Amino acid sequence: MLQVANVSKVYKNKYKALDDVSFIVEQGEFVSVIGKSGAGKTTLFRLLNGMMRPSSGTIIVDDEDFGRLKGRGKRKIQRRIGTIYQDFCLVDNMTCFDNVLNGALPQRNALQALLGIFTREQKKKAMQLLEEVGLKEKIQSYAKDLSGGQKQRVAIARALMQEPEMILADEPVASLDPYTARQITELLVKLKEERNITVIMNSHSVELAVKQSDRVIGIADGRIVIDKPSEQISDDDIKYVYGGAYEQ
Ligand SMILES: Nc1ncnc2c1ncn2[C@@H]1O[C@H](COP(=O)(O)OP(=O)(O)O)[C@@H](O)[C@H]1O
Ligand SMILES: [Mg+2]
Repeated sequence: MLQVANVSKVYKNKYKALDDVSFIVEQGEFVSVIGKSGAGKTTLFRLLNGMMRPSSGTIIVDDEDFGRLKGRGKRKIQRRIGTIYQDFCLVDNMTCFDNVLNGALPQRNALQALLGIFTREQKKKAMQLLEEVGLKEKIQSYAKDLSGGQKQRVAIARALMQEPEMILADEPVASLDPYTARQITELLVKLKEERNITVIMNSHSVELAVKQSDRVIGIADGRIVIDKPSEQISDDDIKYVYGGAYEQ
């Protein structure tokens, strides 16, 4: 489903943030990406959701060379990829409902976009998704009045509006307490199981990430240094990826 082959990313200042990265992710797999700060995790996510292009190498999504596509072809694939972030990226002064509806923006036709309207189906879907992520009571609450965990649930519901094949979660639980972090991770696992969505998550809550995922990819200095099924990951593997900086 996702095929990353020999991908490197060199930023404008010549810094090589990713160096010859290759891996394949099957549809419905839950992959944890672990690595120290600055290892290149966010760079990888930005390449995978099309915010940036690789300097070399290929990123194949649904048999298309996503890393090189432009315009409509690129947007078509981007719609199948939802991204969630540490800081949620919600519109604070909008209700949960409107934030989730925003997830449907790319699907509207020009007239709808011009008039700022959503279809009845889209509204129904936004409602159902908020229920699904456990926020039925908060549908009309403003995003700014929610707890961190609730905000991340809204962000997940918004991502689901586009019926993604893949969710990229860049430190989705970094601002949350350990209990809430587990709940959000479990929600992502549920989406994987019930909707067969591929989830690629990066988290410094390493034990949680390893336990909940099918597979772990470890990145150090822009290179993949570990790629194994989660059940084979040892404490030494984690120490290796974190280069001694990992304490728990
Ligand atoms: N836009 C940029 N220009 C130059 N260097 C960058 C840019 N973005 C990130 N980097 C550098 O690339 C490296 C990897 O960054 P990043 O992918 O954000 O790491 P991580 O998410 O693992 O902490 C870091 O050394 C960072 O400073
Ligand atoms: Mg990062």
